[in-house]
Amino acid sequence: MNDHTNHDSQHHGEKPVKRREMSRRQFLSYTLGGAGAFMGAGMLVPMVRFAVDPVLQPKKKADWVKVVEESKITNEPKSFKFAVHQVDGWFESDPELEAWISKGKDGKVFALNPTCKHLGCTVNWNANPEYKDQYYCPCHGAHYTPDGKQLAVASAPLDEYEVKVEQGFVYLGQLGPNKRV
Ligand code: FES
Repeated sequence: MNDHTNHDSQHHGEKPVKRREMSRRQFLSYTLGGAGAFMGAGMLVPMVRFAVDPVLQPKKKADWVKVVEESKITNEPKSFKFAVHQVDGWFESDPELEAWISKGKDGKVFALNPTCKHLGCTVNWNANPEYKDQYYCPCHGAHYTPDGKQLAVASAPLDEYEVKVEQGFVYLGQLGPNKRV
């Protein structure tokens, strides 16, 4: 009967139906490949997170650093060095920073960062007799008022640290744009 049907279909030009079967080898390779990819992804996700997570964390505001007794601060700016603990991604460091600290006409303590706003050299107080009672940059001659206002070459005032005075000590915090000028 079957022979007859096959015979008929060959005679009438019909193609015999081919059954596509998966070999044992294909089955194993698909199954193991899928499981491997799943396990790989399961391991990769925590690894990528581990590597990238600290970089994605928002940067913490600088902590307050106790720098000097308030009694040592006068109207004449003085330079003070202090270390801050920084965490940047996986990298931790304690760079030394500098601030020129003085009292304004209002008697309040303020602190300027000595990084020149022209190209980043370091300014010094009263370093050039031509510019008395000013900050002066030796690189290209920028100079600034005691409040940090730029008078030549640089295009912005010196940055200013947040300051708080507690129990007779001056603490410095986050560095930001100059609010005095
Ligand atoms: S870096 Fe200070 S004047 Fe150029």
